[in-house]
Amino acid sequence: MDTESPHSARAGERVLIITGDGKRYLVRLQPGVQLHTHLGIIAHDDLIGRGLGREVQSHLGHRFVVVRPSIHDLLMRVKRRSQIIYPKEIGMILLKLDLSDGRRVVEAGTGSGALTTAMAWAVQPRGHVYSFDIRDDMLAAARQNLQANELAPYVTLEQADATQPLPVTDADAIFLDVREPQDCLQSACDVLAPGGFFGSLVPTTNQVSVLLGGMARYPLTDIEVLEIMLRGYKPVPGRLRPKDRMVAHTGYLIFARKISPLLEEAKAEESSKPH
Ligand SMILES: C[S@@+](CC[C@H](N)C(=O)[O-])C[C@H]1O[C@@H](n2cnc3c(N)ncnc32)[C@H](O)[C@@H]1O
Repeated sequence: MDTESPHSARAGERVLIITGDGKRYLVRLQPGVQLHTHLGIIAHDDLIGRGLGREVQSHLGHRFVVVRPSIHDLLMRVKRRSQIIYPKEIGMILLKLDLSDGRRVVEAGTGSGALTTAMAWAVQPRGHVYSFDIRDDMLAAARQNLQANELAPYVTLEQADATQPLPVTDADAIFLDVREPQDCLQSACDVLAPGGFFGSLVPTTNQVSVLLGGMARYPLTDIEVLEIMLRGYKPVPGRLRPKDRMVAHTGYLIFARKISPLLEEAKAEESSKPH
C-alpha cells in the first residue's frame, strides 16, 4: 500500500516537482496547500501519503513528475548571501577530503553554507562539521539553509577569524574558502591530525600562486591544483550537442595532506623518552 511504503511522501517532507517543460519546484508538503504553476495546480493533499517517483496530473491535465530531491537538487536551491561553491567543485571536494560518515571536518568561511550542507550530508550521522566565519550575518544565513535541509544537528557554526587559532584539533580535514587562505595556513595545520586532508578554493591563478608559495612553508605535501570544467549536453538523441551556455569559470581547487615532518617526529620521540 502507498501509505506504508518508504517511497511515500510524508507531510512536512520536501519533494521536487518537475513540469513537462523542465521547470523544477522544491516544495514542502503541507495539508491543504496547493502548488500553482504556469501549467496548472497540484494539491499537496494529492501527494501526501502517496508514492514518489511517479507522474501526477495538474488540474489542466499537464503531466508533472514528483520525486524525492537529491543532494544536488538541494545544493542548487541553497539561498545565497555570498558567492557559493557549486556542485561541480563540491563533488571533487568531498572525494578529495575523503568525507564519509564519522569524519570530523573544519571549514572557513561558512558563507551561505552550500559546502557546509554537502559536508554535513557526507559525514552524518556520526561525523561533524565545524564551520567558522568572521561574519555573524553569514552564519545566520548558513544556519537557515542547514535547518531547511535538516542537517543543522551535524554542524557547529561559530564566529571566528580563521587567520587566528581555531578551537578544533585532530580534524580529519579542513577546507578554506576565504579571501586570503594563505593567511590561514598556520591555523589550518594546527587543526589537522597528521595525514589530514587540506583543501582550498580561490578564483584567480595569481591567488593560486600566492597560496602555493605559502604552503611551501608548512608541513603540507601531495599538493594538487585542479580546475573542473563541466559542459552539459542537450539530451536529444538525433541532435546531440552541447548546451548553448556554460559556466566558463568558477575557481581553482588546491589540495594537500598534512604530515609530521621527520625532524618534529624525532623531537617528539626524544621528549617522550624517560630521562
Ligand atoms: C565565498 S564565501 C564562502 C562560501 C561557502 N563556501 C559556500 O559554499 O556557501 C567566503 C566567506 O568567508 C568569510 N571569511 C573571509 N575571511 C575570513 C576569515 N579570515 N575567517 C573566517 N571567515 C572569513 C566571509 O565572511 C565569507 O562569508
